[in-house]
Amino acid sequence: MKVEALPVIKGDFNLKNYDEMYREFNWGEIEKQFSWSETGKVNMAYEAIDRHAQGERKNKVALYYRDPSREEKYTFKEMKEMSNRVGNLLKQAADVEKGDRVFVFMPRSPECYFTILGAIKLGAIVGPLFEAFMEGAVKDRLEDSAAKVIVTTPELLERVPLEDLPALKHVVLVGENIKEEGPIIDFYTRMKSASKDLEIEWVDRNDGLILHYTSGSTGKPKGVLHVHNAMVQHYQTAKWVLDLKDDDVYWCTADPGWVTGTSYGIFGPWLSGVSNVILGGRFKPETWYQTIEEYGVTVWYSAPTAFRMLMGAGDELVKQFDMSSLRHILSVGEPLNPEVIRWGMKVFNLRVHDTWWMTETGGQTICNYPCMEIKPGSMGKPIPGIKAAIVDDQGQELPPYRMGNLAIKRGWPSMMYTIWNNQAKYESYFMPGDWYVSGDSAYMDEEGYFWFQGRIDDVIMTSGERVGPFEVESKLVEHPAVAEAGVIGKPDPVRGEIIKAFVALRDGYEVSEELKDDIRNFVKKGLAAHAAPREIEFRDKLPKTRSGKIMRRVLKAWELDLPTGDLSTMED
Ligand code: WTA
Repeated sequence: MKVEALPVIKGDFNLKNYDEMYREFNWGEIEKQFSWSETGKVNMAYEAIDRHAQGERKNKVALYYRDPSREEKYTFKEMKEMSNRVGNLLKQAADVEKGDRVFVFMPRSPECYFTILGAIKLGAIVGPLFEAFMEGAVKDRLEDSAAKVIVTTPELLERVPLEDLPALKHVVLVGENIKEEGPIIDFYTRMKSASKDLEIEWVDRNDGLILHYTSGSTGKPKGVLHVHNAMVQHYQTAKWVLDLKDDDVYWCTADPGWVTGTSYGIFGPWLSGVSNVILGGRFKPETWYQTIEEYGVTVWYSAPTAFRMLMGAGDELVKQFDMSSLRHILSVGEPLNPEVIRWGMKVFNLRVHDTWWMTETGGQTICNYPCMEIKPGSMGKPIPGIKAAIVDDQGQELPPYRMGNLAIKRGWPSMMYTIWNNQAKYESYFMPGDWYVSGDSAYMDEEGYFWFQGRIDDVIMTSGERVGPFEVESKLVEHPAVAEAGVIGKPDPVRGEIIKAFVALRDGYEVSEELKDDIRNFVKKGLAAHAAPREIEFRDKLPKTRSGKIMRRVLKAWELDLPTGDLSTMED
């Protein structure tokens, strides 16, 4: 297949020659830049914040924050002090020690970021939770990780089932007029008296840093544990891929509940010492363009669904704003359609650079670089220091253009350290030859560009968010009317995929629109709005294997009018 490549753009980029760097680079050179090379110990929050606060960047703005009700900015020195205060609060009021799991369940806000950094300074393992999660999803995650502390808001507290979580000892509430009783700790009052000096807990590079729960096709969400060592890759990819330089104003649109919002919403930019924009509140095209204009955003990292929504808002809208500060745009999370790249060229006169990675890889893995030609539709090439390949089910490398498993050679710095409570699951990701198997299928062309083909498992990517069908199905069958449920991703022009549920009702229930809404709301309330099926189709019976497993493959074939393939394992 021949695609019109977009030529290299001109500029003084951090990565000047991809091929040369790919041949010569090794991680050891970069590792020397962190404090462990002198002391043997390290702390991500120190490297990201305090190091700058003690040096030339002291009075530089680290965080520009904005939502419909607040607009604030904090220098590196202020970030250091605020995170120190939270550290002291957590230590004194909530007894937090190294290794404890501290969950942060709140909307984006400066306090959310101070808390994540403050907990990391104590050597705690942070579990960021997306604010849209409902009780069932919150419970699964806190239970599995035996979280000791949750930092949340009074509004979200009702979704934390305290009585079911014996390990959870303290609840820090970020809100007005909080009464301290039982496990409740008042964030703002305690912050006022907390010292701005804190003794950082120095940890080993393989000590726990952050726990992101993520979905597979079966079972409950699993806790992907990342360790402080990931900073090597966050730092280096922020240089090569985000191309961050000292005077950049950077904006990553992801929430810290997802891995992009931590690796590249917190760690990458602050390790690089740049000014970081965080926008709270909901998506609105006007607000997004305004954010770029008012802060003079230079480097912008977002996702295909958001770009498609902006595209949908029309070119007249973008023309009302000054976008001239932008110099570099990147995308992650779902396949980036060539159409979005063409739109980007038209309205910003910039290429949109696709990047491929996942919660498990912890950092960018296969990317497009400013110094490299872009082939629209391709995810690009592996970052220097990483070997990627297409392998068959035995771990044998396949030649160009053969479709297979997208696999990464074990041993990159930001690779997950384990699956929480489940080392066996962790080991199951690897194939002979030390290949980490991503669950995505892809092929490579003769020039080494990788092309995404799809998920091998049934994981759904909707609006860039990863949803496991099993979690949704489990919630669906808790509804009194639902006998059986099967959930698939249905292709959607804006959201990539939407969640579609096939449902068989229990005897005595009649198909109706009201029942559909009720079932949808049930999932929304129990799990999360983004996990609720947009479409529900009732069927008398669902296709199952003889062992009773719903055959999602057949549901997908029904939906897309495709042949159903081998049905020999089907029950009747
Ligand atoms: C998908 C997000 C196509 C892929 C950082 C992967 C992509 C899953 C791309 C991980 C891309 C991510 N092109 N698909 N550039 N980037 N994906 O864990 O299926 O939320 O396995 O991490 O998103 O999603 P996760």
